[in-house]
Amino acid sequence: MNKQPIGIFDSGVGGTSIWKEVQQLLPNEDMIYLADSKNAPYGPKGKAAILDLSIKNTDYLINQGCKLIVVACNTATTNAIDYLRLNYNLPFIGIEPAIKPAALHSKTHTIGILATKGTLSSKLFHKTSLLFASTTNIIEQHGNGIVELIESGKLYSDEMKALLSIYLKPMVEADIDYLVLGCTHYPYLIPILIELLPAQIKIIDSGEAVAKQTKHVLVENNLLNTQHRFGQTEFFTNTNPEVMKALLGHSQRVSHLDF
Ligand code: SIN
Repeated sequence: MNKQPIGIFDSGVGGTSIWKEVQQLLPNEDMIYLADSKNAPYGPKGKAAILDLSIKNTDYLINQGCKLIVVACNTATTNAIDYLRLNYNLPFIGIEPAIKPAALHSKTHTIGILATKGTLSSKLFHKTSLLFASTTNIIEQHGNGIVELIESGKLYSDEMKALLSIYLKPMVEADIDYLVLGCTHYPYLIPILIELLPAQIKIIDSGEAVAKQTKHVLVENNLLNTQHRFGQTEFFTNTNPEVMKALLGHSQRVSHLDF
């Protein structure tokens, strides 16, 4: 039994989509969620900058006594997780786009992926997509501007709908039957995507798989918290807490932190 908190970081509020899945599967765990919204989006930044920010977030969570860190950001995972695993002495869970299940289940052998430039141009993504290149046509789309709209509280806006319509058109025309969400901000788009996409296109994200992997690693390392009370999460952001509160519900306490 280990009562230290799980640390979760993201470039902003999007990683709370992962937090929800982890919390549902591991309700007794205490957690600290760190949103580096001041530096969002990470997607267009170069590898060195993404690595520096990931190190800063990791150091903060380790100083708070975290026992495991979930890198709840696809862009940070693809650009920094190898370094973090090599240089820190605690387990890291990363997020990778769910290309594999989508490719294995696709009947049209054509899938779409919406992700940041930083994720789609990373070595890790190329390695994964190459594994399925002989059987599956993968239509890639940079989600430029989506994270910025979510971080500024414009999730359900006409601007968002217009942007998504442009991004989805080539995928629908190519006859995708799976849309992979390759950024942890994007699960918040699902109600809008359902409205915009033909009904036969399934939407897939990585949240549930990440929660299962987190549980597996905690068990394997004897780090599970088996306390007989519900765990608590402390949320921190370096911008306006209201955006995160609107996504999480106002009962959650979100604090501003200068970092
Ligand atoms: C971003 O900061 O650009 C998006 C985060 C992600 O890739 O999950």
